[in-house]
Amino acid sequence: MDRIRIVGGAELRGSIPISGAKNAALPLMTASLLTDDTVILDNVPRLSDVMQLLRILGNHGVDHSISGKRVGQESETGQTIQLSARQIVDTTAPYELVSRMRASFWVIAPLLARMGQAKVSLPGGCAIGTRPVDFYLMALERLGAKIEIEAGYVIATAKDGLKGAEIEFPKVTVGGTHTAVMAAVLAKGTTVIRNAAQEPEIGDLCALLVKMGARISGAGTSTITIDGASRLSGARHTVLPDRIETGTYAMAVAMAGGDVMLEGARPELLQKAFDTLTATGAEILATNEGVRVRRNGSGIAAVDVTTQPFPGFPTDLQAQFMALMTRAKGVSHIRETIFENRFMHVQELARFGAHIKLDGDLATVEGVPTLKGAPVMATDLRASVGLVIAALAAEGETMVHRVYHLDRGFEALEKKLSRCGAQVERLTG
Ligand code: EPZ
Repeated sequence: MDRIRIVGGAELRGSIPISGAKNAALPLMTASLLTDDTVILDNVPRLSDVMQLLRILGNHGVDHSISGKRVGQESETGQTIQLSARQIVDTTAPYELVSRMRASFWVIAPLLARMGQAKVSLPGGCAIGTRPVDFYLMALERLGAKIEIEAGYVIATAKDGLKGAEIEFPKVTVGGTHTAVMAAVLAKGTTVIRNAAQEPEIGDLCALLVKMGARISGAGTSTITIDGASRLSGARHTVLPDRIETGTYAMAVAMAGGDVMLEGARPELLQKAFDTLTATGAEILATNEGVRVRRNGSGIAAVDVTTQPFPGFPTDLQAQFMALMTRAKGVSHIRETIFENRFMHVQELARFGAHIKLDGDLATVEGVPTLKGAPVMATDLRASVGLVIAALAAEGETMVHRVYHLDRGFEALEKKLSRCGAQVERLTG
């Protein structure tokens, strides 16, 4: 299994191209199931989650072709994927394919909307909480689907098609909103989704669907209204830049010090995280090229954070921020309100000498003047990149094991960091 070796202490200087967003690319690719025409997506990141979703879509009959440079080749522009679901040959998404990635469950909505039936294994994904699917199923039922759960599979049917309805989510859910939107675009009549997620990736999905002929208003707000269409056509769309990758590298610079241009980053996608980083002492500057992040000399100030749905501080940056706070001057409090078990990085950060106390959903981090490199284990995608951030500022060598977690969501991580002067290398085998 691959490992990543990091020798800490170097400042980061240079530029890092920001990839297309994983969490936008996955629903955008899934939306190709809604039409028998071709959907073309540009700026798709080279990630194992993208490849896994291509396998899942292929099983349903989606043909794809990829252009642009492949994994391992130098490239700044992302890849272009053409997806064509001319004929759906199978409406079942089997356990073997779905269990590795939660977002694969989202195929249930377009399959049901287009074919009137779908049988999808209950999902897996990062172990960050129980992560039920009850909101998704509620939304599909509201749209007229009959739902049964049998032997680990959700079987959804809508023999006469889906019908527009009012859907109100009891809690903000990104996947639930994606599901409701993808089901409603082909339903008869009007659907109103209340307490919808406002994450930019929902806006990106809706932008593609509108290009395909869907009638959607209110994307990016908490109420989305959709007038169902009888058919959608093909379209071409560019995946938006990854705000979590942007925030991660911004935190890496705040941790290691230096001056880095995050090329193509859009500051409005993570204002709250940038405000928080500014409060820690980093300088954030929006430019035409992207976002420039600097921290020179000054220490890291301790800042409290509570994760919230967009536009709040993202849960997907919580582990990275905690890594930064391990070296702050003083005590910070980090409250995780989205997932109940997203603190697996705490015990790994302790291996660097970090002082963190956990009490339910609250982590109290007492900054220490130095971290020491250590062998550590990646536990989930964002937790593992938090360990990389700690390693960049730690004295000596860190070996991060189980880096397949990182490969799910960070394109060419070691290359992007080493071109800015970090001592990072991947050891294969
Ligand atoms: C998406 O997950 C992202 N995944 C996650 O990123 C991200 O952490 C999360 O949204 C929150 O921003 C993708 O976009 C592929 P939710 P999702 O439904 O859709 C509860 C990463 O690292 N809930 O918004 O699964 C749920 O348990 C990943 O890239 C139910 O109770 O998250 C959680 O507490 C990790 N019932 C809360 O809602 C349901 O039916 C929000 O989850 C659905 C969700």
